[in-house]
Amino acid sequence: MKRDPRVHVRVYDDYETLSRAAADYFLSAARGAVEVRGRAAAALSGGATPKRMLALLAAAPLFDWSRVHFFWADERCVPPESGESNFKLANDALLAPLAVAQGNIHRIRGEVGAEQAAREYERELRSFFPEGDAPVFDLIVLGVGTDGHTASLFPGAAALAERSRQAVPLHFETAKRDRVTLTLAALNSGRDVLLLASGREKAPILHELLEDGNPRRCPAGLVKPTAGSVTWLIDREAARLLSL
Ligand code: 6PG
Repeated sequence: MKRDPRVHVRVYDDYETLSRAAADYFLSAARGAVEVRGRAAAALSGGATPKRMLALLAAAPLFDWSRVHFFWADERCVPPESGESNFKLANDALLAPLAVAQGNIHRIRGEVGAEQAAREYERELRSFFPEGDAPVFDLIVLGVGTDGHTASLFPGAAALAERSRQAVPLHFETAKRDRVTLTLAALNSGRDVLLLASGREKAPILHELLEDGNPRRCPAGLVKPTAGSVTWLIDREAARLLSL
């Protein structure tokens, strides 16, 4: 399958070097945005993969974090102090250690319920990104599930077809919590999307996404910013089925 030239793939020896590369990428994108636009807007994800990157960012050499605004690609409808909260993940690893100002933290208030939290978040996005119909994040950091989901966009979800809203509520019959997620419209209006994948359990889905079949079945394969780029940072284990 011919790979989309807008999709870049970089393979690293292991999770640590992958995380260091992700932290460097984040800092470079943030510095660039601050230089050009005076501020940087980054959307973070939950999951395990970004954890080491966040810790490395917290220890990064002097950087003016006061110019960086933090958003989320998705959130579970739990209190911010819950162990399931994507906000808590980033706050514990990065935001609190760096004493990031509250005005720079734009969390999804999942605790108020998915419908209201999605509406509130869309208002916050419109207020922060007043131009145009969609938020233009300087950097969006995503992971990918073994089923090809990214953010909280799961295969076959109606939210994948959402074209006007930027954030939508998700209700799950299973034990999974209700969630709020950025839509593909919001993800694909970003300037720079970083997708992180580590470990052998991600190898099959990466093969499907990057080299085989129809990536359109996988939400992570639908992340193609209209005027931006997608960069996959993966480790050797996750890349083992790729013919790179
Ligand atoms: C979440 C994330 C989710 C995550 C993938 C991969 O809220 O959990 O947004 O999309 O990125 O599930 O998770 P891992 O990094 O733990 O494999």
